[in-house]
Amino acid sequence: METIEAIKQRRSIRKFKSDELSRETVEDILNAGRLAPSAKNRQPWSFVIVKGNIKDKIADMMIDYTLTHDEVPQRILLGAKSSVNSTAHIIKQAPILVLIFREKNDNWIIGDNLSIGACVENMCLRATELDIGSLWIRDIVYVAEDVAKMLNHQDLELNCALSLGIADESPSSRPRKNLQDIVEWYQDDE
Ligand SMILES: Cc1cc2nc3c(=O)[nH]c(=O)nc-3n(C[C@H](O)[C@H](O)[C@H](O)COP(=O)(O)O)c2cc1C
Repeated sequence: METIEAIKQRRSIRKFKSDELSRETVEDILNAGRLAPSAKNRQPWSFVIVKGNIKDKIADMMIDYTLTHDEVPQRILLGAKSSVNSTAHIIKQAPILVLIFREKNDNWIIGDNLSIGACVENMCLRATELDIGSLWIRDIVYVAEDVAKMLNHQDLELNCALSLGIADESPSSRPRKNLQDIVEWYQDDE
């Protein structure tokens, strides 16, 4: 598949079949992430793959968070509660959850976060090419510390996650801004 085709065909998938993915398939997708560019070639990522009960426990931690954080002003959560809840249910449905951890290093926060974005997009595109559905997940950040603790990885920061599985929906493309609305060209006309 041409890269541009994978870019155009990729969708956030929020309905998954229960079919398992083989370890080879998951590793193939992780490998695409590993090959991403990174600031100073720091490769600040590491992956923990969770399946079954432990995966569902993480989803339950997210649901519990939405139930137990009433004291957080709504303007801060900005409707995030319902999003966290629905993402947690998607995590339960998808057979694989890839947790993407960032090395803790305060000097490299911007570069490392940009690098992780490249890594995760590589994985999403490879998944598309293999006809595997994916959902890039930020909503897990509310329970990041608890998840890191549960997995004995307090040395790392949970940056985001990626659900993987066979898609049980084929959503249309979501709206994008027009190129002319987001681009400015400057040039010297001498
Ligand atoms: C960094 C990042 C975090 C995201 N986090 C979530 C999430 O926690 N839950 C969710 O349902 N979708 C999440 N998404 C998916 C976006 O909502 C989705 O990419 C966007 O609506 C455009 O739709 P598309 O991916 O199908 O093109 C995330 C996407 C990105 C890039």
